[in-house]
Amino acid sequence: MTSDVEVTYRKRFDRHFEELRWLYMELYSNSSMFAELCDTMERFSRARSASLKERDLRKEADPDWYKDSDQIGMSLYVQNFGGNLQGVRNRLDYIEKCNVNVIHLMPFLESPKGRNDGGYAVSDYRKVRPDLGDMDDLQALTESCHKRGISVGMDFVLNHTSDDHEWARRARAGEGEYMSRYYFYNNPEVVRKFEETVPQAFPETAPGNFTYVPECGHYVMTTFYPYQWDLNYHNPRVFNEMVYNFLYLANRGMDMMCLIAHPYIWKEPGTSCCSLPQVHTITRLLRMIVEIVCPSVLLMSDAAFRPEDALPYFGTAEKPECHILYNAATMAAVWNSVATRDAFLLKNQLDMLSSFSAAHVFENYLRNHDDISWNLDYDLLRGQGIMEISHKKYLNDYFRGYSGSSNSRGELCNVDYVNEDARFCGRTASMCGIERAGFEGSDEMMDSSIRMDIMLHALLFMLPGLPVLYSGDEIGQVNDYSYKDDPEKARDARYICRGPMNWKLTENIDSPDTVQGRLFHALDILEKIRKEEKAFGSEAECWTLDTHAKEILGFCRYRNEEKITGLFNFSEHSQTAWINEENAGCRDLVTGEPVQTGSIVMDPYAFRYLKTKKSD
Ligand code: GLC
Repeated sequence: MTSDVEVTYRKRFDRHFEELRWLYMELYSNSSMFAELCDTMERFSRARSASLKERDLRKEADPDWYKDSDQIGMSLYVQNFGGNLQGVRNRLDYIEKCNVNVIHLMPFLESPKGRNDGGYAVSDYRKVRPDLGDMDDLQALTESCHKRGISVGMDFVLNHTSDDHEWARRARAGEGEYMSRYYFYNNPEVVRKFEETVPQAFPETAPGNFTYVPECGHYVMTTFYPYQWDLNYHNPRVFNEMVYNFLYLANRGMDMMCLIAHPYIWKEPGTSCCSLPQVHTITRLLRMIVEIVCPSVLLMSDAAFRPEDALPYFGTAEKPECHILYNAATMAAVWNSVATRDAFLLKNQLDMLSSFSAAHVFENYLRNHDDISWNLDYDLLRGQGIMEISHKKYLNDYFRGYSGSSNSRGELCNVDYVNEDARFCGRTASMCGIERAGFEGSDEMMDSSIRMDIMLHALLFMLPGLPVLYSGDEIGQVNDYSYKDDPEKARDARYICRGPMNWKLTENIDSPDTVQGRLFHALDILEKIRKEEKAFGSEAECWTLDTHAKEILGFCRYRNEEKITGLFNFSEHSQTAWINEENAGCRDLVTGEPVQTGSIVMDPYAFRYLKTKKSD
């Protein structure tokens, strides 16, 4: 007899079968590998626990759950946050106190010590790094999270494995079957041709896109670090096996899989090897596989492009690809406004984001574990006489605290002397001045820095999409320079943002006169407003507002006759916003006080959430 579960599986499978087969055959024209894929998918579906199957049904019935304004995320490193997986589980009360209900676990799978790019060089996709626990601990964590209504995401490194992965070891030993899972060439001319068109991911720390492997006398493609070997998705064995790894992890209770180095998974000579059409075919295949086997799982892409360039990664309404995309561009535009006291570029970008459909969900954040690569709209800036190279230099100097009236602290990474480019690394609190103010014991600077930090978070919560805090930002944790003492990390300044959580500081979160207390309390208010107010819902209409003050960004959300106007002053001076909209009965959502619109004086680094009801 067929069970309900089997009937459900069949329905999902039948719904996608034609397209799944079509795309797979288009890419691989290999029917036996396709048959193997289908059989294995069914096996993973059967192996899924009853509670995950139930979760699948619930999420299928409410497919837009992740768009709700009550979803607030936090990304964290297991070792930094809880020591290990069990430790993270012990800290779930704190996660809840932060009003967070989506945690994004940074890499925790097995990867060789010292040669792992922060965990992004996986040597075994089915094994947790031994010092962090094991798969049972992972499952126990996801189960505990689910019981509390917390979803769990992880990074799934799609593009490459560690050179210590079994496949890489066997390839190095010259086994053809395994060499064909990577891009191996013995002709330096082919390598040279690739280098002509493929840009450099890490020009300073890992120049070039190939690494010579003396053991087998070949060059292997390594877009990132030399020990991260690019997987060859031209080979259906690679696709199938990576899908099985994906499903294995999904069955441990993952709700969101962030596809790492996603745009790079398909390579062709003579191209940039980035965002090629086949990347979309593979993503679409993955999306259908998810919808068949584990429909509660979300696909997220780390395609860190400008929003308009990242859009194709959502696919179309009929043929969706990813559910969520990282919004690295808005993050960069926000910090650009901080350095220039000018919201023009940011406003322009938010205009574009607001014009996208509600189906396009971006993950917004102020800072994360990576650098800022200043991927701004230079065509637009050029119109204002601002040139790319000099502007990037200005921003990098500014945020290192070298120029302008900057209190920021941080460091550069991947300085590209040829193209005069560099990226900046620093944590939110340090970039706002909290680190400097603390060292110098300046109350005035501290006050201004905290105000900026809160204003930026208020903006983060206002943006359409999923807001994700970077663990430690809620207590203003600053840069960690200890990576310099570790020779394996010292050359990669991104580790400045990857220090351990300072739990001692969390003891202050209820003391309003401390840095931690001020920040935590302010964020708590903002998070609760975001979760409660209807106009923060994903169906809200959003638009930017002309404030007639270049330092003040205005952003409105409107839904069900309720409007919230957000004003954000990027200047250390008071500024006046001129609001030319009907705002009768307007009140400040934070203070509850009535506000007369027209001209609104904004204190240094102040923000306002102003609510108007049509009926008022
Ligand atoms: C992703 C990660 C980054 C890593 C890269 C290559 O972009 O965010 O930290 O270096 O992948 O593995």
